Formats: sequence, structure tokens, C-alpha cells
Amino acid sequence: MAGKYTFTMIKPDAVEKNNIGGILEMMNAAGFRVVSMKLTQLSAAKAGEFYAVHSERPFYGELVEFMSSGPIVAAILEKENAVEDFRKLIGATNPANAEEGTIRKKYAESMGKNAVHGSDSDENAMIEGNFFFSGLERF
Ligand code: CMP
Repeated sequence: MAGKYTFTMIKPDAVEKNNIGGILEMMNAAGFRVVSMKLTQLSAAKAGEFYAVHSERPFYGELVEFMSSGPIVAAILEKENAVEDFRKLIGATNPANAEEGTIRKKYAESMGKNAVHGSDSDENAMIEGNFFFSGLERF
């Protein structure tokens, strides 16, 4: 059964360009409710840990450097069928392939600087949410 929760980050490129509000607006308009949220910055070590699954990929170093380069917004979101619906809302990883109406179509500039992260499975949504938030930070 599909779960009700997903995890997202608004990435350093989108925070830098002052797009937090516009992106949250699109999430809310699509029916996602905020369970947890914080503005924070990952150290390179923490970014490396978060993206450890990609450690063998050629872009890992670039990804870790970029994701620790400035503040991000981390959040747990709730909606029926959250993971799948959120991935539709954010659009393709490469903004050149993102459909009209998606967050990445509107706000992403490249494969790396692609504005937002969204969990790719219920299991990873739980792992990623636990990476940033304690039980006291969920509402
Ligand atoms: P995200 O959804 O956060 O998960 C892994 C990230 O790796 C992905 O978004 C992209 O930002 C990044 N990524 C994937 N492929 C590439 C690539 N070829 N070059 C740079 N970054 C990439």
C-alpha cells in the first residue's frame, strides 16, 4: 500500500534565488500538508551521508559539494500516495525533460541545480525524514 508521507528538500539554488515561497505554494496547491520543516545547512559529511546511495556515481562529488554549499529547506509532507504524487509534481531530474506545470520546469536550472529533492520510495521517505527530524518535530 502506498504511504502518506514523503520527504523533500528545497535545494541551495532555489533558496539562493528566493524561491522558497513559490515552491511551497505549489506543494500546498497540490494538496501536500507540512508535517515537519526547517531551514538548515548540511556539512559536506552530512550531505555525503544523505546521498550515500549515489557514492559510486560520477556526479557524487559535485552533488555533495553543491548540497552543502548553502542553506536548504528540509520537510516531511503528507498526502495520500505521497511519494508518487510528489515525484509527478516535481518533474524529471533533468529540467530539460520536466513537464509544464512541474516545480522543476518552473524553478530548476540544471541536472544538479534542480531546485528540489523528492524521495523515490516509501522506505527512503522514512529514512530521509528520520535523517532530519525527531519525533518532537512532527505535527
Ligand atoms: P535528487 O532527486 O536530489 O537525487 C539525486 C541527485 O543527484 C539528483 O536529484 C540530481 O540533482 C543529482 N544528479 C543526478 N544525475 C546527475 C548528473 N548527471 N549530474 C549532476 N547531478 C546529478
